[in-house]
Amino acid sequence: MKPQLITLHINGRTHALAAAPNATLLETLRDLGYVDVKSGCEKGDCGACAVLLNGEAVNSCMVLAGQADEATIVTATGLGTVTNPHPLQQAFADHGAIQCGYCTPGFVIAAKALLDTNPHPTELEIREAISGNLCRCTGYGQIVEAIQAAAEQMVPAEGGAR
Ligand code: FES
Ligand code: FES
Repeated sequence: MKPQLITLHINGRTHALAAAPNATLLETLRDLGYVDVKSGCEKGDCGACAVLLNGEAVNSCMVLAGQADEATIVTATGLGTVTNPHPLQQAFADHGAIQCGYCTPGFVIAAKALLDTNPHPTELEIREAISGNLCRCTGYGQIVEAIQAAAEQMVPAEGGAR
């Protein structure tokens, strides 16, 4: 089959490209330079490759590039920069929720998708939201704490400190 001409809107930039019929969104994003999208298991089990696809967290290894034609995609680096990090990114750093960092973009994306729909999640809801993401080094306690802290900072609960 011939390559498919597609358009992807990634982190505010538009890319027009020819995608092979079997090219995954993960491969395509990394080929375009979005290497914050990590390749782990490549079979939907680890969450390292998660991105927001039209606002929903998906494992990009399980999506064909052609299926994402005209989609809006946000990767972890699309959320914030080193000098202006997203509250989630800052909270992960502040709470020791990063060691090697390989899993971190996927966790941040899963957390962002959660907080977009549920600004005050319970610990159980956070653990459910990140249940598709694997981390081999940090331990999940710090990651949950970081997400709780970011949620509180983004939308303080009634009666909260701010
Ligand atoms: S690389 Fe996509 S879920 Fe593991
Ligand atoms: S920080 Fe190393 S895999 Fe999660």
